[in-house]
Parts: sequence; C-alpha cells; structure tokens
Amino acid sequence: MNRYWSRVAQGLTPYVPGEQPKLPKLVKLNTNENPYGPSPRALEALRAEVGDTLRLYPDPNSDRLKESIAAFYGVTPAQVFVGNGSDEVLAHTFLALLKHDEPVLFPDITYSFYPVYCGLYGIAHRQVALTESFEIRVDDYFQPNGGIIFPNPNAPTGRPLALAEIERLLRANTGSVVVIDEAYVDFGAESAVGLVNRYPNLLVVHTLSKSRSLAGLRVGYAIGHAELIEALARVKDSFNSYPLDRFAIAGAAAAIEDRAYFDATCGKVIATRTRLVADLEALGFDVLPSAANFVFARHDRRDGAELAARLRERSVIVRHFKNPPRIAPFLRITVGTDEQCEALTGALREILA
Ligand SMILES: Cc1ncc(COP(=O)(O)O)c(C=O)c1O
Repeated sequence: MNRYWSRVAQGLTPYVPGEQPKLPKLVKLNTNENPYGPSPRALEALRAEVGDTLRLYPDPNSDRLKESIAAFYGVTPAQVFVGNGSDEVLAHTFLALLKHDEPVLFPDITYSFYPVYCGLYGIAHRQVALTESFEIRVDDYFQPNGGIIFPNPNAPTGRPLALAEIERLLRANTGSVVVIDEAYVDFGAESAVGLVNRYPNLLVVHTLSKSRSLAGLRVGYAIGHAELIEALARVKDSFNSYPLDRFAIAGAAAAIEDRAYFDATCGKVIATRTRLVADLEALGFDVLPSAANFVFARHDRRDGAELAARLRERSVIVRHFKNPPRIAPFLRITVGTDEQCEALTGALREILA
C-alpha cells in the first residue's frame, strides 16, 4: 500500500496469471498454450508487416480481421468485436453488458478473472455452485440476474455443456445478456456462434491464444448481435482506440484464414488428450471428462499441491489451485505434444512409485 495509490488501486485483488518461467528445458504444461507453432501463413503475414508502415497507426476498427472472422463463422463484420486478447474483450463485456442492478451470475469454480473484473468495475455478482460432478446445471441460473457468464468448456474443469442446454438458458433468460466464453471450444465442444442470429442477448467470446497458437500475439474476439457489439465498441473507444497493432491484425487474419492448419493442430491435441487421459487413469488418477486442451485430474491417494511440487523438481510444470478447497486435490494439466505428455506421465510414475 502506498499513500499515492487511489482508493481503486488500493481495493483491487488482481488476477494471478500462470507463471512464465525463464528456465530452459521445461515441460511447460501450466497455461494451456498450444504445443504447436502458429500457422505458417500467420508467420508470413507477420513478417510482411515489418516495414515503413509501422510509423502509421493501425486501423482502429481492425476491419481486415473482422472480415476474416465474419467469413469463417458466416456472420457479418458488424457482429464481430476484436480486442487485445479475450481478456480485454471480457473486461469490456463486463463494463458494457454485465454491470446492472441485479448481480451477474457465474459458476463458483470457473475462470478466476471474472470476479476480478467485477472488483475492478464494482459489479455485483453471485457465484453459482457446480454440481457434485463439477457440472454447470442450467436450471440453477434461472433466477434474477444482471447477466450470466461461463466458459464452455468450463475452466479449469474442462467439462463441456451441451448446446441444447445453452439454448434452454437463452430461452429462459431473455432479460439479460448470456456470455459464453469459448476459449477452449475448438478442442471438442459445440460452439454457440450459430445461435447469435436467433438470440439478441447472446455474446460468444473467443481467443486466438489456444486453438490458433497465438497466445503471444494477444488477440480475442466476440460475436453477437450488432447492438451488443456496438456497446463493446463504445467502451473500447473510451479506453484505447488501437488495441490491436498492425502485427496482431495481419497475423490473426491469416491464422483465421488457414482453416486446414487449424483443423490439423486441433486434431493432434485432441488425439494426444485421449492418450494422456488413459495414461493418467492407469496411474490412479480420476480425470474429469475434458473437451479442452487441458485435463483436470486428481489422484486417489496423493495431494495436488505435493504432486505439482514434485513434478516441478523434475522440470515439469502444471497448474495447481489452492482455492476453492474443493479443487485443491486437482492438477490442471495442459495437453502438450505426445513427447511432453510422456515426460509428464513418466515423471508421475517415478513420483508415485
Ligand atoms: C476461460 C478463459 N477465458 C479467457 C482466457 C483469456 O485468454 P486470452 O486473454 O489469452 O485471449 C483464458 C486464458 O487462459 C481462459 O482460460
């Protein structure tokens, strides 16, 4: 605490991102990055941006990227909002669409940035408990609210929710916005993007950090009714006119346009996940059904924190959450390459022996 800090700065509880250690030769399975590089077409587009035009501001509306995203999903560019990572898109969403008198609802076990945005913007919120089996039960959200948000698949559980359930929620909850954070949807869950023309209160948020291997470029987007997008643009233009630089616009558009590379890398991650789950189960882990590029697993005899620490001694890092206590027994393990996952299961075999 410092006497020069504003009351706002003093009152914040910031999000704590997974660590990015500077150590060499780590098996890094802690922040759900993609183990495969970005599309070669995206890298080529990035290289082509190096030049004299960098002295000019980028397009404040990122039209080139919005067109690529709109074409990929069969929507119009006016239904697309882009931002500096989906974290920024989510931040603007909280301020533009979820700050009302009634509390915003989200699961008690979910992406831990949501309560942070509520703290930053002074948004009332209520956490809704997941079921015994760590599932989102849509009926629990049939209560007065100023908005609803959850990831599908949920994080850090990886459990997907069927599209029919999301549609049931949208039909019952026409009075406020329902945000589906699809950061991990491309690894096996059903996207709600196809519903945006039928539900004017649906906003779907995506990132290029996971399935497009571009966590370092910081690009995310939202798709929804043009009027929801307009609210996001109002906040963005009151905050930063140029959230995406020239590299981000060019690289992200090329990545979205390279559908073949996207399909191939997502397919590889999904195949490795199947093997990883089988190997973890053989070692005595209970693994929640995952449709994401990570799995959430607990051992029947060993403590989560201890396992994470022992793995780290062997240069394998995974994510462990102390809170809430209900998830403390679990490890969240990113699906890497086959070799990385074998290094993980090999280390676990030694630790458990
Ligand atoms: C559920 C969820 N949403 C959003 C994000 C943010 O992704 P980014 O800001 O890299 O687009 C993450 C990152 O881990 C996430 O897990």
